[in-house]
Amino acid sequence: MKKIAVLTSGGDAPGMNAAIRAAVRTAIYNGLEVVGVRRGFAGLIEGDFFLMETGSVSDIMQKGGTFLLSARCDEFLEPEGRKKAADQLKKHSIEGLIVIGGDGSLRGAESLYREQGIAYISVPGTIDNDLPGTDYTIGFDTAMNTIIEAINKVRDTATSHERTFIIETMGRTSGYLTMMAGLASGADAVLIPENKADIEEVCQILIERQKHGRLHNIVLVAEGYKGNFRTNRDLTESTAFLIGKEIARKTGQDTRVIILGHLQRGGSPTAMDRILASKLGAKAVELLLDGKSSRMVGIVGNKIQDSSVEDILNGKKEIDLDLYKLNEVLSI
Ligand code: F6P
Repeated sequence: MKKIAVLTSGGDAPGMNAAIRAAVRTAIYNGLEVVGVRRGFAGLIEGDFFLMETGSVSDIMQKGGTFLLSARCDEFLEPEGRKKAADQLKKHSIEGLIVIGGDGSLRGAESLYREQGIAYISVPGTIDNDLPGTDYTIGFDTAMNTIIEAINKVRDTATSHERTFIIETMGRTSGYLTMMAGLASGADAVLIPENKADIEEVCQILIERQKHGRLHNIVLVAEGYKGNFRTNRDLTESTAFLIGKEIARKTGQDTRVIILGHLQRGGSPTAMDRILASKLGAKAVELLLDGKSSRMVGIVGNKIQDSSVEDILNGKKEIDLDLYKLNEVLSI
């Protein structure tokens, strides 16, 4: 293998730049030529490539986002789009790909490999931490810290005004980020798609707390939590607002709702994310050099390992509901 390409795809995550840096520098160290692809799979289809040197990745490790840019690309979802991408790679004599992203990126790279034989190794980058095959994904630790910082600030005003705040965090299908941020911030209640807890129970907890003189509360809600709110009538409104109204109605507490949204995806990556990204980016290149493909690098029990992307796509990361229970115990 003489020439490889690196791309980032899907939702960005803090630490992606550190992963790009590690992949580029490991590749150059091993005598490979490295090409950067702009805007993920869209750039692959368009042939939006540029040659990267050691200096191309200087001064990026501390920055959030991805300097290669990212996009969600509909054309790549079709076989014709993937054929165009493979043609571009062949035209530029690129023999292997490093794909940094979440489950959608894995799915795209796997289809390109199966249909067009393009070798690739993927690096898990998503704040959601929803991929099996790794204990942590790049960006998760930074996002969790961002949420905690936001909660600390909200708590100040919540205390002053004796209010209940409903805070919505990201996680379309997974409550991992929300559950861990809840544990780390001492949230009073946590609502995630994986748990059956409903709003009735949460209101009971808040009423009990009120009786014991606790007049401010933080209720964390994962974006993907639906509870029993999702009727056709209320599909247009974020569940967090519906929860806020319900809590106000049932408890009489003064409630406010905050959607943290995309600010959770930004910011300078934490040391944990930079170190994880550096290890995984380097390992991905080593695997390509060993002739491997269709694998995702990850960290399991503090060891860097790789697993089959097919298994990852067919699997599901189970969240540890004992930690959910622990938060309930600790937040009484
Ligand atoms: O996949 C990561 C994620 O952060 C989800 O938690 C969230 O639902 C989604 O991205 C939002 O993505 P977009 O950038 O398309 O709004």
